[in-house]
Amino acid sequence: MLHFPVLLEESIDFLIHDKDGLYIDGTFGRGGHSDLILDKISIKGFLSAFDKDPDAVRFASKYKQPNFKIYHDSFKNFNKYFKTESIDGILYDLGTCSTHFDNSERGFSFNKDGPLDMRFDNTKGNSLSDWLNNAPLEEIISVLYKYGDEKHAKLIAKTIEDERKRKPILRTCQLAEIISQKYPEKKKKIHPATKSFQAFRIFINDELEEFKLSLNTAKNILKKDGIIVTIAFHSLEDNIIKNFFKPSFKSFPKDIPLNNIKEKNFKCIAKKIRPSDREQKDNSRSRSAIMRAFQKI
Ligand SMILES: C[S@@+](CC[C@H](N)C(=O)[O-])C[C@H]1O[C@@H](n2cnc3c(N)ncnc32)[C@H](O)[C@@H]1O
Repeated sequence: MLHFPVLLEESIDFLIHDKDGLYIDGTFGRGGHSDLILDKISIKGFLSAFDKDPDAVRFASKYKQPNFKIYHDSFKNFNKYFKTESIDGILYDLGTCSTHFDNSERGFSFNKDGPLDMRFDNTKGNSLSDWLNNAPLEEIISVLYKYGDEKHAKLIAKTIEDERKRKPILRTCQLAEIISQKYPEKKKKIHPATKSFQAFRIFINDELEEFKLSLNTAKNILKKDGIIVTIAFHSLEDNIIKNFFKPSFKSFPKDIPLNNIKEKNFKCIAKKIRPSDREQKDNSRSRSAIMRAFQKI
């Protein structure tokens, strides 16, 4: 298996409510979720899948099903392809695939030496090393705080600044090593560069902004009764989901009990679903996953 799909049965059970419907897998990866959607929908149904990663798109282009199409684009651009109120369900399985870490050439892993790239779409934009070797110190500090919750952000950013004066930072292990050498705390199980690598990945791919933009588009292209299923892997993603779908209470008088108020456009149909103990044991990547599902009303 190239990548173990997380919360597979649970997510697709919520997503598919009409076998003849039109569905979107916003994060195709290696097709774990798409495969099950294609198994469950009828030949009248249709699955459109998106991925920014050209490797994922190459993988998907081998699919021969007539009711499947892959788009090499960000999920923020759904509105380029779909009309208002035309879609029955949209799935987001956020973040990275195992394949990103397995292939050192993609530059995601601090354990495998490779070019410091980290872009999901390595056909455009700046690689991490392009940015890191030129970014102002303050910007590096802010990225580490904001996207990695890294309390040693200043120290790490200064270390990066010192290193790049000596020679450009071009390799994943070079970055991991300089962070490790200066990192004040040593925890056996967690590599000192873990939070920094997460922060840089989120930043270089503009992950959170693109997800927010995508939810806004998803809201419009979804039919009434249509469903959005999200699988998040850290609190920054999960907070966006909670905020986006949170009922807006402000316009209601104070004396109406909050639990009687329905969100204007969506109702929550699955709240904070976690992988089973079995799944967490079999697939350690699933441990941080949180699934939620919402229906347009
Ligand atoms: C966790 S993996 C999906 C795995 C997939 N569900 C499976 O089971 O094989 C997330 C995928 O989303 C892609 N991705 C990340 N951000 C994206 C975006 N803004 N638009 C489209 N795809 C994106 C990544 O390239 C990655 O392949």
